Amino acid sequence: MQKAKVGVLISGRGSNMAALLYAAKAESCPYEIVMVAANDPDAAGLTLAAAEGIRTFGQSHKGYKRAEFDRIIDAKLRAAGAQYVALAGYMRLLSPEFVSGWEGRMLNIHPSLLPKYKGLDTHQRAIDAGDSHAGCSVHIVTAELDDGPVLGQTAVAILPGDTADSLAARILIAEHQLYSRTLADFVTRERQPDWLLNKVRESALALPQADEIVSHGMPCFGIVKGKKFAYFTRDHHGDGIIALLVKTTAPEEQASLIEADPARYYRPAYFGNEWVGIRLDLGDTDWDHVAQRLRESWRQVAPRKLLGLMDIADEF
Ligand code: GRF
Repeated sequence: MQKAKVGVLISGRGSNMAALLYAAKAESCPYEIVMVAANDPDAAGLTLAAAEGIRTFGQSHKGYKRAEFDRIIDAKLRAAGAQYVALAGYMRLLSPEFVSGWEGRMLNIHPSLLPKYKGLDTHQRAIDAGDSHAGCSVHIVTAELDDGPVLGQTAVAILPGDTADSLAARILIAEHQLYSRTLADFVTRERQPDWLLNKVRESALALPQADEIVSHGMPCFGIVKGKKFAYFTRDHHGDGIIALLVKTTAPEEQASLIEADPARYYRPAYFGNEWVGIRLDLGDTDWDHVAQRLRESWRQVAPRKLLGLMDIADEF
């Protein structure tokens, strides 16, 4: 299996980056670190990453506008082939352009049990509040600071006499475990059949009068009491493929799609040429395109009355 390519952004010590990097040395780890970048050329983590043979980039942000600096980092990440970004102690607010360019593909680790204690000074705040536990969270990065869906958390007991430093040191141990585990789960979820089926289901059932049944052992989407417009196939007849079957919109379309992208499109056995298979297990699925294909397929089988309703809805 191809490993997911991850770029890591740091500002200093880089111990979480090191934890990600060493976890990635295991053959079974589903990601690899392709670049470590810092907004400080003297960041200690850069020396470590370089010594481990990772491509590095260190550049001070001083003198740059935020969006301008982020564009430099973005270009470096993309040039290194990064598909995901892991923020690991990156002490910079990110521009909205950068965040949206990595939407759903950028994670951060934060030393608190989010949504508690966003921002700085998290350890002291947990102690001052008299909490029994502090901890750390890995979350998807959105435009808001330390916000976005939490993917994983580890609670860490606060001990009598703990200072912010002693607590931080203990939480850091938990951070190092949590980050690589959560990142590994995250980059593989797009290959898991249940996750893929849910993604398809979300788009398919959002179409007017759509329902889901099981047909020939496959989850299948159709119009209530009407025709089917999509099948979700996983390892059907042992073919090892996870794919979506949708109706084509023109007689030659199946052949032209397969010709344009033979790794992704295929002719589904027993379905004739009115249907085309779209592989969902390649790790780079364009979900807007999938939603579009589902919609087109739905249009192929929808009764005229429903089509009219859809056209009216489209005008708004
Ligand atoms: C960690 O505590 C992390 O949770 C926070 O910044 C710190 C970075 O430490 N976001 P390091 O550079 O990974 O050692």
